[in-house]
Amino acid sequence: MKILITGNMGYVGPSVVKRLRAIHPDATLVGLDMGYYGNCITSTGGVPERLINVQYFADIRQFPAAILDGVDAIVHLAAISNDPIGNKFEKVTLDINYRASVDLAKKAKSAGVKVFVFASSCSMYGSADDNARTENSPLNPLTAYAKSKVFTERELEPLASGNFKITSLRFSTACGWSDRLRLDLVLNDFVAGAVASGRITILSDGTPWRPLINVQDMARAIDWAISRDRSIASDFLAVNVGSDAWNYQIRDLAEAVARAIPGTLVSINKDAQPDKRSYRVNFDLFKKLAPAYQPAIGLAESVQELKTGLEGIGFRDGDFRSSKYMRLNILTELQKKGLLNEKFEWMNKEAI
Ligand SMILES: NC(=O)c1ccc[n+]([C@@H]2O[C@H](COP(=O)([O-])OP(=O)(O)OC[C@H]3O[C@@H](n4cnc5c(N)ncnc54)[C@H](O)[C@@H]3O)[C@@H](O)[C@H]2O)c1
Repeated sequence: MKILITGNMGYVGPSVVKRLRAIHPDATLVGLDMGYYGNCITSTGGVPERLINVQYFADIRQFPAAILDGVDAIVHLAAISNDPIGNKFEKVTLDINYRASVDLAKKAKSAGVKVFVFASSCSMYGSADDNARTENSPLNPLTAYAKSKVFTERELEPLASGNFKITSLRFSTACGWSDRLRLDLVLNDFVAGAVASGRITILSDGTPWRPLINVQDMARAIDWAISRDRSIASDFLAVNVGSDAWNYQIRDLAEAVARAIPGTLVSINKDAQPDKRSYRVNFDLFKKLAPAYQPAIGLAESVQELKTGLEGIGFRDGDFRSSKYMRLNILTELQKKGLLNEKFEWMNKEAI
């Protein structure tokens, strides 16, 4: 078995690699990444890529087709991965997340790859806090990032066939510890605030709904999607991944973190404009199709692992929203230094 994982050097990637290495000890795991966040390591052990057989540094927009030789399955994580970056860099976001993703799937199908797992997002439901959305509910993407996932899914569906099984995992918002931690995710932000300064500052009015999932449970879902029997669902499957127990309103989430880390103060911006990105999601289909792969890590455990991890690296930065733990800050900094151009391509200036 040979599995290619694109975007393996991000936040979710290290958990996916760990899981696949444990489940398929003899598989050849190939990583491909631009390495934007290569030096944002938060592990205290070795680099996460030590579990990979071959690591490529490449751009999925200029995907070297030879890499697909002998590949059985692709886990496609590579993306510009949040709304703030997508809002500022809309064209690049659509080029990477949408056009290059569809192009990669087409190349993969021609090369005889049999399985394609796409990291999609529940954010495609947009403003949807009345009834929990199912996979058949109308989509309402509000941002370039969410649109990129909708457009990609739409063009992936007709590519699926008996020999090319595609699973689009519409993930809840990720949380939890990672060897390349991000703090631009709601629960991670709250725990970081609590640990660094004993304070959680909610930027919205606290009412939006968000489903959450621990990164390790994302990895379990990816593992399921790689091996899912085609008889379980059609050649193309889009499925919400998360659990009913993890549909939270932001203010409840903050209060839960404050209870878990005593002494934490929560402040809500009562004057904030309402955040339209509010969605409740129904996970019945995932429960039915993948009973043995349901999310197993809850809120308390996720808070605890984040707290332990942050304390373990001596994290004390109360100003972390301006730090390297935010993906937008890294990309902006690399551009400022002239290392990345406006299309997020490496300039290789030091090599000249
Ligand atoms: N984190 C979440 O809450 C969440 C939720 C739902 C879905 N997802 C999806 O899961 C995937 C992984 O998310 P993440 O949180 O690890 O994001 P991340 O930003 O931490 O990692 C993305 C990785 O993709 C790489 N990459 C970006 N553009 C590339 C390109 N042109 N060529 C090659 N590599 C490139 C980056 O270098 C990075 O290592 C993304 O597709 C994201 O949209 C994430």
